[in-house]
Amino acid sequence: MLKSLNKESDEPLYLQIRNQIRDLILSGDLPLGARLPPERKLAASLGVNRTTVSNAYHELTAEGLVESQVGRGTFVCALPGTTRDQEDFPPRPLPWNEHFVALSEQVRDPLIRELVALCSQEDMISLAAGVPAPELYPIERFAQSTDRVLRQHGHALLQHCPTEGHPAFRETLTELAAGRGITTSPDNILVLAGSQQGLDLIARSLIEPGDPVVVEVPSYLGALSAFRAAGARLLGVPMDEEGLRTDVLERMMARYRPQLIYTLPTFQNPSGGVMSRERRQALLYLAQRYQVPILEDDPYGELYYGAPPPPPLKSLDRQGYVLYLSTFSKILFPGIRLGWLVAPRPVVDRLASVKQYADLHSNTLAQWALTDFIQQGWLGEHIAVLRQEYPRRRQAMLDALHCHIPQGLRWNEPTGGFYLWCHLKNGLQSKDLLAEAALQRVAFVVGEAFHADGGGQNALRLNFTYQNEQGIKEGIRRLGEALTALLKRRRERRAPRREAARPIV
Ligand SMILES: Cc1ncc(COP(=O)(O)O)c(C=O)c1O
Repeated sequence: MLKSLNKESDEPLYLQIRNQIRDLILSGDLPLGARLPPERKLAASLGVNRTTVSNAYHELTAEGLVESQVGRGTFVCALPGTTRDQEDFPPRPLPWNEHFVALSEQVRDPLIRELVALCSQEDMISLAAGVPAPELYPIERFAQSTDRVLRQHGHALLQHCPTEGHPAFRETLTELAAGRGITTSPDNILVLAGSQQGLDLIARSLIEPGDPVVVEVPSYLGALSAFRAAGARLLGVPMDEEGLRTDVLERMMARYRPQLIYTLPTFQNPSGGVMSRERRQALLYLAQRYQVPILEDDPYGELYYGAPPPPPLKSLDRQGYVLYLSTFSKILFPGIRLGWLVAPRPVVDRLASVKQYADLHSNTLAQWALTDFIQQGWLGEHIAVLRQEYPRRRQAMLDALHCHIPQGLRWNEPTGGFYLWCHLKNGLQSKDLLAEAALQRVAFVVGEAFHADGGGQNALRLNFTYQNEQGIKEGIRRLGEALTALLKRRRERRAPRREAARPIV
């Protein structure tokens, strides 16, 4: 800790020791609460007798820099800058990154923030964001609902409400659930500040560090981040055209006994896939057999553009295995920050007590206004509008892809939801395409973000709901340019360099 002492100096040894320790304290290198080495140990390491060190510690105590606690040792008790002149120790910024917010690598997930920054650049066409068409937001009707509830219930409505949610809103959600085939009661519903909060609360409450959690490959990146932040060990299960591969899952269940299965059975984010009815039954059967809860995340189930999808897993669940999570972010607007969970009572109670630490309750005005909006029948009407508009946009994207991307990329044709899931061919990587795309002013999400197993380097997700048809066409045209540039760059890199002609001797 200390530099060696100068035994030739006129300055007594105990003062040399005092000065060195004082500098360490005042510079902050010995922080508040740090324990000084025991006198005997420091004396031995410096080659002085114990009294010398003892005298130095007495000096520091007299200056108020340290205090000794009987039986425990001597501790730093002053903050840097408090005992010397401001001029000697000018104020300096707090090193937040070093001491306070040094997050583990797992928790550091800059991807979403980088994407938001990319998408907010001028002229950028975002095919990345998973948000609805803003020009379709039913603003007039929502304003009417807000106005009405404010006038009718002003004071009550601007108060706190129960953490579990405003009672009338929970009633309304019970009816909404019934419309999706889910029989439940208001007591089994927890209102959330968006479904992302549900993912976080479940991760915090149900998962201990090291617990195995099953996720689909690929899966929603916000969920992967929440589970990782809770220390989960993610077990990726592949999917086929019927959804999560229950044959692979069964082997994993037997081997790892996971703590949770997270699935997006309907218009999966990012793949757009729909789990078949048989697979849903098989998944439920496995959960029951191995006694593992399922978290079903269903933001997109109402957004089908052909035949309705099979009913939610939760509607098939008679034994309370499924936690059903949904949100208004995709069928209405994300800024309202309202999501909801249907779960057995003990889960609702546990999650509500954790939610209470985070935000006491979700926004009261939004809950009342949305209750009115739904009771007027306006949510149903709005969803009908979306079901008309989004397939047009999806078709516009498919047509534009056929027109502008003749080679190098394949894509699916989802029957609902928000996304096209694409794969680059011939070893091309989506992060290289994104770099070219940024130059062409178009953005998407790279596939890696959705892969718990580190794969997906050749995959990318394109959103078709946020841009209008014109934006989609132009965005895909730019993507085509980016792909052409990437292919050209690769050809150039691969082309053998011409050797200069050598004379034959
Ligand atoms: C599958 C899935 N779950 C949860 C969310 C989070 O939505 P929110 O917190 O806005 O309700 C999203 C948003 O993209 C999503 O796609």
